[in-house]
Amino acid sequence: MSNSPSAESSGTMNFVDFYKKVKRFRLFEPSVGILGLTVCVIFCFFLLDYRSVTKGLRFPSQNERLLWLRIDGGNESRKKIDFLSEINGGCDVFDGDWMWDESYPLYQSKDCRFLDEGFRCSENGRPDFFYTKWRWQPRNCNLPRFDAKIMLEKLRNKRVVFAGDSIGRNQWESLLCMLSSAISNKDSIYEVNGNPITKHKGFLVFKFMDYNCTVEYYRAPFLVLQSRPPPKVSPEIKTTLKLDQMDWTSSKWKDADILIFNTGHWWNYEKTIRGGCYFQEGSNVNMDMEVDSAYQKSLETVLKWIHRAVNTTKTQVFFRTYAPVHFRGGDWRSGGTCHLETLPELGSSMVPSHTWTKYSIFAQVIASHSDLRVLNILNITHMTSRRKDGHSSLYYLGPKVGLAPLHRQDCSHWCLPGVPDAWNELLYAFVLKREAIKKSNSSSFHAQV
Ligand SMILES: *[C@@H]1O[C@H](CO)[C@@H](O)[C@H](O)[C@H]1NC(C)=O
Ligand SMILES: *[C@@H]1O[C@H](CO)[C@@H](O)[C@H](O)[C@H]1NC(C)=O
Ligand SMILES: *[C@@H]1O[C@H](CO)[C@@H](O)[C@H](O)[C@H]1NC(C)=O
Ligand SMILES: *[C@@H]1O[C@H](CO)[C@@H](O)[C@H](O)[C@H]1NC(C)=O
Ligand SMILES: *[C@@H]1O[C@H](CO)[C@@H](O)[C@H](O)[C@H]1NC(C)=O
Repeated sequence: MSNSPSAESSGTMNFVDFYKKVKRFRLFEPSVGILGLTVCVIFCFFLLDYRSVTKGLRFPSQNERLLWLRIDGGNESRKKIDFLSEINGGCDVFDGDWMWDESYPLYQSKDCRFLDEGFRCSENGRPDFFYTKWRWQPRNCNLPRFDAKIMLEKLRNKRVVFAGDSIGRNQWESLLCMLSSAISNKDSIYEVNGNPITKHKGFLVFKFMDYNCTVEYYRAPFLVLQSRPPPKVSPEIKTTLKLDQMDWTSSKWKDADILIFNTGHWWNYEKTIRGGCYFQEGSNVNMDMEVDSAYQKSLETVLKWIHRAVNTTKTQVFFRTYAPVHFRGGDWRSGGTCHLETLPELGSSMVPSHTWTKYSIFAQVIASHSDLRVLNILNITHMTSRRKDGHSSLYYLGPKVGLAPLHRQDCSHWCLPGVPDAWNELLYAFVLKREAIKKSNSSSFHAQV
């Protein structure tokens, strides 16, 4: 990696650069570059079809492929009802398709100061940019187009808080970029404590001066409290997760106007028990508790906390569901890969089912709390599972270091611009919708009076 090609990469990539990169990395057949992008797309479809066939999935017809590539604005999508005016809850916005849309991405990473190096895939040498071009289209309704000015206006004098793991941070940085695209004076956006965007801060609070609004991130990968064990326990217990207590930063979340949770990626053996982190309830450390059952208990605690501590008349609470990983032929320890993926999955997803357990446990817990209707679920697991093409893979080390070794890929975080933008567009839709419902309620109230 001494002769790092990514250092010379800049935001715009002309075809010659693209071809050079393609050739150097041998990501595609060498001839593909010569024939250009169109052929590449077709080639990728061929690959996709080939894989589908070998995996025993149905072979998509020519029509379906064209349908899939349907450019935005076709009458197919226009005749659908608008999500914001749809009032009976009849549209599941999480059920739909990824559509190629030339008007995407919503921003360029080089124009956004608020991105960790690790998410700047194109700047780090990722040669294809297809992953930036997909828009989420629900099957039964249309989402509002994201408009940063409208969102900022809604957020005037308000606080948006993301609490969770680094995938939550991924989404938070995406929102910062999406919002800042509407602000010409970038210096009017700043971290209130003067901290830089680095991976190691407990929390970061960015203020949009013109709107007196803050967009905040609190690192709390478990959401519940991780701290020292009680005295006089076995020395193999280094820390414990208090399954019945919220993370210590939770007091800062609860008065937010919009609160977005996520968790899941740290609830595994490696990130807990293996490092001497056991599970505690009350003063009792249970050394036999399985990670999944601890995860379930922690979710119960989060839901109870929302019920008890959060004023949901003021705070709109979201829980973003688990974002699937896409390691092929291994996992993050054993050299799983995703760097050859350049297109979303057609039809159903091929994510191995064991990676869904975090989602299933959440779905079970939610089902047993049907009283908690105030909780908005950003149910992105299914739609995201089809985006094996969206991960940072080899392109997370920054332009100076170059590509990561093949066996050290990141198939859990996401390139930006990219998939988390779509989660935030859904967030946007729900924020506008709540506003619309409030308005229609108060006007019908006035009408009755
Ligand atoms: C789209 O609109 C054209 C004419 O406006 C019509 O002929 C065609 O059938 C429509 N297609 C669909 C899928 O509705
Ligand atoms: C999430 O969305 C998928 C796809 O539309 C759906 O099958 C599933 O039931 C939803 N789950 C929850 C908890 O809403
Ligand atoms: C700015 O927003 C905060 C809430 O985040 C609010 O308490 C404060 O009054 C606002 N300041 C002004 C000048 O409106
Ligand atoms: C909850 O928030 C609403 C709207 O901001 C406010 O009117 C109400 O007084 C709050 N309730 C409590 C118990 O603080
Ligand atoms: C709006 O009114 C409907 C019924 O008329 C009610 O179910 C809903 O909770 C109200 N929403 C808000 C935000 O007040």
